Amino acid sequence: MKFHVMTLFPEMVEQGLHTSILGRAMDAGIICVDAVNIRDFSEDKHRHVDDYPYGGGAGMVMAPEPIFKCYESLTAGSTSADEPVPAGRPRVIYLTPWGRVFNQKMAKEFAKEEELIFLCGHYEGVDERVLEEIVTDYVSIGDYVLSGGELPSMVMIDAIARMVPGVLTNEESGETESFMNGLLEYPQYTRPEEWHGQKVPEVLLSGHHAKVAEWRMQRSIDRTVQYRPELMDGVELDKKSAKYYRDLLNSEKE
Ligand code: ADE
Repeated sequence: MKFHVMTLFPEMVEQGLHTSILGRAMDAGIICVDAVNIRDFSEDKHRHVDDYPYGGGAGMVMAPEPIFKCYESLTAGSTSADEPVPAGRPRVIYLTPWGRVFNQKMAKEFAKEEELIFLCGHYEGVDERVLEEIVTDYVSIGDYVLSGGELPSMVMIDAIARMVPGVLTNEESGETESFMNGLLEYPQYTRPEEWHGQKVPEVLLSGHHAKVAEWRMQRSIDRTVQYRPELMDGVELDKKSAKYYRDLLNSEKE
C-alpha cells in the first residue's frame, strides 16, 4: 500500500514513520510512505506557498496552485470542473478538526485502498477552492486543534498500515484482533514475579490457557466498563462473558 503525504515538512513525516513495525514494513516493501514537499511546486522565486487572506484577518492561507500542482504530480493527469475527482483516482484525505472523527473502523476501511493521498494544511488554512477540487475525505483525529496536518496524518498512517496484510506478524495481528472486538486491552505483566510488593496475578503463572483467556476477557470487560462504558454498546460477547458482564452490572447497582 502506498501513502503519499503532501506537506511542508516531509522529513518530519518520513522520519517519524520509519521506526518499529512501520519501518520494518517499509523495509520489506509492504508499505511505502512518500512525503512530497508542497514548496517544490511553488512558482514563486522565494518559494512562497501562502498568502494573505481575502477579507482580512490574522494569519496566512496556503495558496491553491502549489497544492494542486503537487497533487497532479502524484496522479499524473488533470481534473476538470465537471469531474473534480475522477473514478480510479486515489482518495485524498484532508486533515482538519472539522472532519469526521477517525476510528478503528475507518482505519480498516482505508486499508482496503491501494493508495491514499494525505494533504497536510498549515497556517490559518488552505484556499477552499483546491479543497473542493481534490479532497474526497475530511478527517479529524480528535476534538483539539494541532498546528498542522502532519501529526494527524502520521497517526492515521500508523493505524491504517497495521491493517494491511503482512504488516503485523501473526502474533501481533492476533493480539490486535482480540481488541477489535471493541473491548479495551487487559493488563499485562512481565518479570519479575513480584515488584514493589505487588505480585503478578496467580492465574497467569498457572499455564492453564483457558483460565488465562477467561481472566483476560473479564479484565478487558472490567476496564471497558470502568473507563469507556459507552464502548460496551457495540460489543458482542460470548455466553460466558455476557453473564460476567450482567453480573458486574448487577453488582454495581447493589
Ligand atoms: N489539524 C489541526 N488539528 C487537527 C485535528 N485535530 N485533526 C486533524 N487535523 C488537524
